[in-house]
Amino acid sequence: MTKQKRPAKATGTAADFIPARPTLAKLRAASKGCRGCDLFKVGTQTVFGEGPSTAQVMIVGEQPGDMEDRAGKPFVGPSGKLLDRAFDGAGISRDDVYVTNAVKHFKWAKDARTTRRIHKTPSAGEIRACLPWLQHEIALIQPRVIVCLGAIAAKALLGRTFSVTKRRGMPVDSDLAPAVFATVHPSAVLRAPSDQRGRAEAMFMADMRAVGRFLDKSSGPRRTTPRARKFSAWSTIARPSATSSESTRSSRE
Ligand code: URA
Ligand code: SF4
Repeated sequence: MTKQKRPAKATGTAADFIPARPTLAKLRAASKGCRGCDLFKVGTQTVFGEGPSTAQVMIVGEQPGDMEDRAGKPFVGPSGKLLDRAFDGAGISRDDVYVTNAVKHFKWAKDARTTRRIHKTPSAGEIRACLPWLQHEIALIQPRVIVCLGAIAAKALLGRTFSVTKRRGMPVDSDLAPAVFATVHPSAVLRAPSDQRGRAEAMFMADMRAVGRFLDKSSGPRRTTPRARKFSAWSTIARPSATSSESTRSSRE
């Protein structure tokens, strides 16, 4: 009797939508139909990462904002403008940068008094559900440096106990790339009270200059991270405390 191949068990996450033998183009196309969590009903469209597949730097934000949700592209709004200035200040070429988000749909609620759409923080379950897209982006691009913008991105990739405040602007050891940096989210700089705004922006710029210095220092042949390529490290990132086997299952194809 021939053994019947059973279809892979659904995980209820983005992993169910990852195409076989993924390329960036295939991933981007497949992400448009993602139903890995309920946020596809909330955001207008999936906002997948953008940038060259040869990028040495991967920037990971939290989720698309209002403008990104409309445009279908990451970091086209005010945060993106600040980011661009930080790249300039750090000598990082935009051609060398791939920008993406931990969560790929905009989560928002209507402001009670105005017509504005107010950003809502994604839940731990939504972040976990969306992680397979980011994992595959990292595995395909193999950036030299990953920069996490804000606590949501940093915790998604570096563990739930990671503190941006304590460890911002310095390379963190990780299997994901030769260096992973974390800094605050540019929207936190933009929202800072006026008397703290200058200092917040200066610190953000300084963190990005540290990324630029790391790139200058470490230029040369790209150091591959075989564990990241094989995805054997993924089980430890979704659930850093590794208290359950759920993340292992849900993050595989
Ligand atoms: N903030 C983010 O985290 N990502 C975007 O794409 C835009 C704003
Ligand atoms: Fe899929 Fe992520 Fe959108 Fe949820 S937020 S539907 S997991 S792309």
